[in-house]
Amino acid sequence: MSESIPIGADHAGFPLKERLKAELAALGFDPVDVGTHSTDSTDYPDYAHVVADKVARGEVKRAVLLCGTGLGMSYAANRHHGVRAAVAWSPEVAKLAREHNDANVLVLPARFVSEEQGLEILKTWLATPFEGGRHERRVAKIEVEKP
Ligand code: RB5
Repeated sequence: MSESIPIGADHAGFPLKERLKAELAALGFDPVDVGTHSTDSTDYPDYAHVVADKVARGEVKRAVLLCGTGLGMSYAANRHHGVRAAVAWSPEVAKLAREHNDANVLVLPARFVSEEQGLEILKTWLATPFEGGRHERRVAKIEVEKP
């Protein structure tokens, strides 16, 4: 069975979401599109919470969010226990977000990356494993409250 990867965006992230969704399917994943479905103005937390809740509950291992800067989506997603949502603006940052921070939600700043950059960031994040070791201890120290 292919891995489900929820993907959500607000109006600023909608066009790039469509492209990344197609790429996820082409790579053999099962993208679960939680919206938005147009460039009509909408509120990013509505999508961040739906996606982050799936990760927090363990329904999925990882997920993708997009908004203009990536910031609003990451703020909202990171409110959920166990969610480590990383804004990545380059493949290098995406790689380190996996290797060092075990990022389980990738957040794209859609107004600041091209379609090609967005695709490279997604592919790098998907393909990079967590390094563990000393990073395991640091990641464990992130949580401040238990569920
Ligand atoms: C929408 O205009 C914009 O505020 C939103 O996409 C995002 O950048 C918020 O953090």
